[in-house]
Amino acid sequence: MNAVSLPRLSEAVYTPLGSEVYRGLTARPRTLSPWLFYDQEGSRLFEEITTLDEYYLTRTERTIFEANADAIIAAASAPTPHGIERDLTIIELGAGTATKTGLLLRAAIRRQEAVTYHAIDVSESALDEAQQHLTAAIPGITFEPRVGDYTEGLGVIPPDGTRRLVLYIGSSLGNFEPEEARRLLLGVRNQLAPGDMLLLGVDMVKDISTLVAAYDDASGVTAAFNRNVLTRINRELGADFDLMKFRHKVRWNGAHSRIEMHLESLLAHDISIPSLDLSLAFRRGETIHTENSYKFTTEGVQHLLTQTGFTVVDRWTDPQRWFGVFLARVH
Ligand code: TRP
Repeated sequence: MNAVSLPRLSEAVYTPLGSEVYRGLTARPRTLSPWLFYDQEGSRLFEEITTLDEYYLTRTERTIFEANADAIIAAASAPTPHGIERDLTIIELGAGTATKTGLLLRAAIRRQEAVTYHAIDVSESALDEAQQHLTAAIPGITFEPRVGDYTEGLGVIPPDGTRRLVLYIGSSLGNFEPEEARRLLLGVRNQLAPGDMLLLGVDMVKDISTLVAAYDDASGVTAAFNRNVLTRINRELGADFDLMKFRHKVRWNGAHSRIEMHLESLLAHDISIPSLDLSLAFRRGETIHTENSYKFTTEGVQHLLTQTGFTVVDRWTDPQRWFGVFLARVH
């Protein structure tokens, strides 16, 4: 008698990548989670995005820090209803290569001579780069890197009599759904003590053409970044996506106050992903929704921070009011 061999379930389905691709591409509408973007090439393309003319976010936030770093650090250190003026320990969520953070760290050194900086990021290579350039350029800084996902918490930061200032800049909050953003801020709040501070940098609502151009640059870097997720799925899961059959599509969704990035199928065609036992029929014009970038109003930010246990104590913007930096205290 012959043994009956059961079809072997593919291992790939159980990996984080495989299960996310399976879930997302069989969902309707089809989606892919933004973390899939950040393979090596995706991280490189993202750094390039932050230098594009159309991508005003990074340079605008930097000008706000250039003009106000001392004021930001002074306000964060100031006496609170809960206590006296204090030195700061600085913690950054999603620090990356920390190119803008140096401006704030230098201001902290001017005020308090030495500062401990805890940098949390999923990318170890980004943290290595941050450590190299910051410790070389800023005497007095103690750099504490932590490789990890900040949505899982701040980790252990031993109390040492200083006040904690958490940096959450670069409008990363805008890449989360509103409920997720609330949950994330509540999680941060619950790991802080009254009097601790949060500095939140977010992109503000503005004219639609400026917003759309920031995510659909003329040189096609953001398009390459978006399409790269298909290259990754081809390489790591053996899929047969033809990049020529998808276009980068950006739209402003006013009802939800967000920029959406999609990959749109230019024609009806089938895709196969053998390692997931998956065959997908794309209709012409059907899209894979790959990212949201929510845009904020001052009232919206105030509301969100108040709801999650913070009080806004100060805010800074650029002359065009394109980007907002909000300082909030734990209450
Ligand atoms: N959080 C920033 C933004 O929403 C940076 C960013 C995240 C981004 N994912 C992106 C920029 C994808 C361009 C494309 O703008």
